[in-house]
Amino acid sequence: MDLRIRSFEDYQEKYKLSVTDPDQFWDEIGRSFQWNEPYDQVSKWEFETPDVKWYLNGKLNITENCLDRHLECKGDDCALIWEANNPTESAVHWTYQELYEKVCEFSNALKAQGVGKGDRVIIYMPMVPEASVAMLACARIGAVHSVVFAGFSANAISDRINDAQAKMVITADGLNRGAKQVPLKEVVDDALIHCYSIEKVIVFDCLGSNPNMEAGRDVWWHEAIDGMDKSCPAEPMDSEDVLFILYTSGSTGKPKGVVHTCGGYMVFAAYSFQNVFQYQEKDIYWCTADVGWITGHTYIVYGPLLSGATTMMFEGVPTYPDASRFWQICDKHQVNVFYTAPTAIRALMACGDEHVENHDLSSLKVLGTVGEPINEEAWRWYKERIGKGRCPIVDTWWQTETGGIMISGLGDLSPQRAAHAGYPLPGIQPVLLDQEGKEIKENGVEGYLCIKHPWPSILRTTYGDHERCKVTYFSHYKNHYFTGDGAKRDENGMYRIIGRVDDVINVSGHRFGTAEIENAINENRLVVESAVVGYPHHIKGQGIYAYVVCETMPSDLEKARAEILETVIEEIGKIAKPEKIQFVTGLPKTRSGKIMRRILRKVAEGEADKLGDVSTLLDPSVVDDIVAGAF
Ligand code: PRX
Repeated sequence: MDLRIRSFEDYQEKYKLSVTDPDQFWDEIGRSFQWNEPYDQVSKWEFETPDVKWYLNGKLNITENCLDRHLECKGDDCALIWEANNPTESAVHWTYQELYEKVCEFSNALKAQGVGKGDRVIIYMPMVPEASVAMLACARIGAVHSVVFAGFSANAISDRINDAQAKMVITADGLNRGAKQVPLKEVVDDALIHCYSIEKVIVFDCLGSNPNMEAGRDVWWHEAIDGMDKSCPAEPMDSEDVLFILYTSGSTGKPKGVVHTCGGYMVFAAYSFQNVFQYQEKDIYWCTADVGWITGHTYIVYGPLLSGATTMMFEGVPTYPDASRFWQICDKHQVNVFYTAPTAIRALMACGDEHVENHDLSSLKVLGTVGEPINEEAWRWYKERIGKGRCPIVDTWWQTETGGIMISGLGDLSPQRAAHAGYPLPGIQPVLLDQEGKEIKENGVEGYLCIKHPWPSILRTTYGDHERCKVTYFSHYKNHYFTGDGAKRDENGMYRIIGRVDDVINVSGHRFGTAEIENAINENRLVVESAVVGYPHHIKGQGIYAYVVCETMPSDLEKARAEILETVIEEIGKIAKPEKIQFVTGLPKTRSGKIMRRILRKVAEGEADKLGDVSTLLDPSVVDDIVAGAF
């Protein structure tokens, strides 16, 4: 058996095997990779602690599997295409040989700057191919990368640097985003005021903007690689050595560092990429995510390169110079597989069909979505207007913590249903649990989505705080990984993800904890306390609605709002800005002081007439004020 699923019958057979004998199933897949030393056990796990290991004692380097392995047969094939923000700038095409050399050269530069195996490196970069080079170079020398999305603020970066005790930051002077240029180095400089572990900053010259460079600490990318050898031995890594940390929001406190390890992540990234997208030799594959998110890690960089695919990176935004940009790029590069987020689909749908019409989309074979539930209207538009009714849509459900796609169609092999993610990949055993944690076995039901057997790319821990990993994912339901999502299973066993059941808001496919945004708002000098909830937003999926209590009601509400937004931007970044801020005199609390978010959610959703019983509140009169002042 290789890792390819070739028909729905094949899927069903492999699924069965993956449940009856998971180790045999994953062993056969694991063998198709290049190991420096073979593993001697496929898996060893328990969900109590939790302690999960895959491909035990195997030695490998993921970059040898992404690059070296392809050089003989595919050295001249295109590995990476880069499309610039500016539509008149030429695209970049790198072959596997070229990418290999660039990664080796930068690996040597990292070593020369004092980075070695196990060191943590923060990557805060634009969507340029050097971002992928930076990730792969870390992986090659065994350093642990932690990519921070380039929209996060200085405070958010310093939190992550300090949590990871990182030694280096790789950044750029700034980035291009539509008609704007955004400084990055300045933000890093601000972040570093509060960080003591960073020894070096490597700066890629993206804009030619001449940023501040601190002598002894800051080094230009082009100077760092100057004279470096274009080959670099790959560090042999244990399967369970850390490959990367990626910070993500949860329902409490600060974002946590999700830890993925080398062997299992590699196997699952390639396996899921090839099967979900049914990638064929020479296909041009384009995932529009940012490398700062897990989607960029697994499905721009690792999954495609492990598979010898051609992966495209796009620097810009879907609406620059106008709302036809995505379709123009699909036409220009004759894209075969296109993977994007429902929020982008909804935004482009709202701009009108004329933007789609003049572009040749006949090369498209498979369309994908990720990050949030897709509504039926957007699904149908995507299917008809973009896929012309020909292309299957794979609605891929997964999470930062799962490392790769868990529930999804497999190209055109699987049955499809609008707005349904569908069936689990072989090797993935989802279950729905009820309030009491009992498994609901029938179909046509709804429950809490959990997974009852590990898969190779399940998170191993949350960096520096294993207890948090246990409490968040493994303590809700004994012997199950809890996803935080609610889901339905239809009569045919297809899954439809409803959304988060914890205090996490999903805005345009980006995750924020309500507590995280509240903490940011509370930093503002005017604010006494706040409560944040999500509400349905026609483009973003969910919007952020903040109820804010100030010491005294601000006389100029607009000014106070602007000031609070500024604080959120400083604490987290523009992406976490609440759409609505309502000043209230008090929050609805129970007698024990717990905020009744259910009430706040109902008001934010415009359903103030369905509040239910409010008599148990400490002060029921606050609810009338909240309802009266709602947007
Ligand atoms: O609520 C689910 C939603 O996004 C969450 C994971 O967010 P994050 O770790 O940032 O990863 C996003 C990219 C994988 C999930 O708990 N989600 C993700 N994909 C889907 C989805 N909800 C519905 N349908 C999806 N296809």
